[in-house]
Amino acid sequence: MPGTKKKVFVKTFGCQMNVYDSERMAETLAPYGYAETTTLEEADVVILNTCHIREKAAEKVYSDLGRIRQVKDRRQVLGKDTLVTVAGCVAQAEGKEITRRAPVVDLVVGPQSYHNLPDLLFRAKSESRQVVETTFPEEDKFDKLPARIGPRAATAFLTVQEGCDNFCTFCVVPYTRGVEFSRPVASLIDEAKRLVDGGVRELTLLGQNVNAYHGEGPDGNAWSLAKLIDSLAEIEGIERLRYTTSHPNDMTDDLMAVHANQMKLMPYLHLPFQAGSDRILAAMNRKHTADDYRRVIERLRSARPDIALSTDVIVGFPGETDDEFEATLEMTREMKFAQAFSFKYSPRPGTPAAKMDDQVSEEVKSERLQRLQSLLAQFQTSFNTNCVGRKMLVLFDRQGKAPGALVGRSPYLQPVHVEGDLSLLGSIKSVEISSASTNVLHGVISL
Ligand code: 5AD
Ligand code: SF4
Repeated sequence: MPGTKKKVFVKTFGCQMNVYDSERMAETLAPYGYAETTTLEEADVVILNTCHIREKAAEKVYSDLGRIRQVKDRRQVLGKDTLVTVAGCVAQAEGKEITRRAPVVDLVVGPQSYHNLPDLLFRAKSESRQVVETTFPEEDKFDKLPARIGPRAATAFLTVQEGCDNFCTFCVVPYTRGVEFSRPVASLIDEAKRLVDGGVRELTLLGQNVNAYHGEGPDGNAWSLAKLIDSLAEIEGIERLRYTTSHPNDMTDDLMAVHANQMKLMPYLHLPFQAGSDRILAAMNRKHTADDYRRVIERLRSARPDIALSTDVIVGFPGETDDEFEATLEMTREMKFAQAFSFKYSPRPGTPAAKMDDQVSEEVKSERLQRLQSLLAQFQTSFNTNCVGRKMLVLFDRQGKAPGALVGRSPYLQPVHVEGDLSLLGSIKSVEISSASTNVLHGVISL
């Protein structure tokens, strides 16, 4: 019906890949007349795109569903239907259990099936029943999705690889996202060009294990991530490239060489080390030692001396002793990370570490996390403070809160706040950094 445009509300939990998936889910509904809304009350379709990586993230979904049930009831009184979808990794991991725990849910759809979202919603509505779709279909969802519209912004994510074959013993990803799959180069180049046409200047290539990328190239051979980066860099309009998340064992020579030679690849790498003790790394099934990690960083720093590092760390993995935790602190001091994400170990159902019997108490985990985070914050602050007085190229991608304020990103992914005209959104300018704190830089656009 003209004039009665339908609305979809999407809430994203978890990682950047979920941000990408949420955009694409909304895009599957656009041809059916659905526009996105940020107001739950006006949504005809609600999608929670969920994360299962830690217990806290997974449990948030159920508290949100409680709130959504009240909205759905209120809308029903007004004669309006609301279709509630749980998508993402909790959907994949818990499937039918979600429909049992939360009768408000109409559809549960896993990360490999969301290209069928319109059909699945239609089925849930026309058959008035809860639909659960958590299979891993044979077809490539990326082939079935409508052409990418993209975020109409200066920066965008592009999923190039999905799934993981590493089976770290703490991690649910191999179970929720399945085996490794790399998208073909041609389809990525096509999507990247569409994004550039929409104004994107910086692409972040995503994958759970992105540096294991081995997609089919136009020549029929498997292409490495390094080769993919070089060919994306040739697209006119792309100014910056990044990639995340990587595994130390897949930092190949050709990837190091791209860091040295490809100036569009930003001097920043997110490389999780998880723990500093070799015994814990082995129990985690990381398949590398602390020294292996050190050697990778050494090679990387000699390839690209100005590279900034970011990482993921887990404290309180089963059996972790005080000394082993000290090894994690030691690695932190040595590496001087510019940024880091640190977590208390969270036992995940179905993963080997959850069954280990020497679980660390919540109290010890909290105390270790606090110590680690205060150390990480010191290094992050000093990395930022060292930037004061320097000129940096900043890509402006959003308005700031104050009138006339703009926010962009430095090559090292630091948010940089300046005063500037809105017309600068989407452009890269040199900024002289005037002050810094743990989380942001402030500066002045220099001519
Ligand atoms: N508990 C705590 N942190 C975890 N991560 C993955 N699984 C768990 C878990 N069970 C962290 C790892 C990973 C990041 C994305 O989340 O550090 O790199
Ligand atoms: Fe999970 Fe990353 Fe390990 Fe894969 S490499 S199992 S995604 S932590």
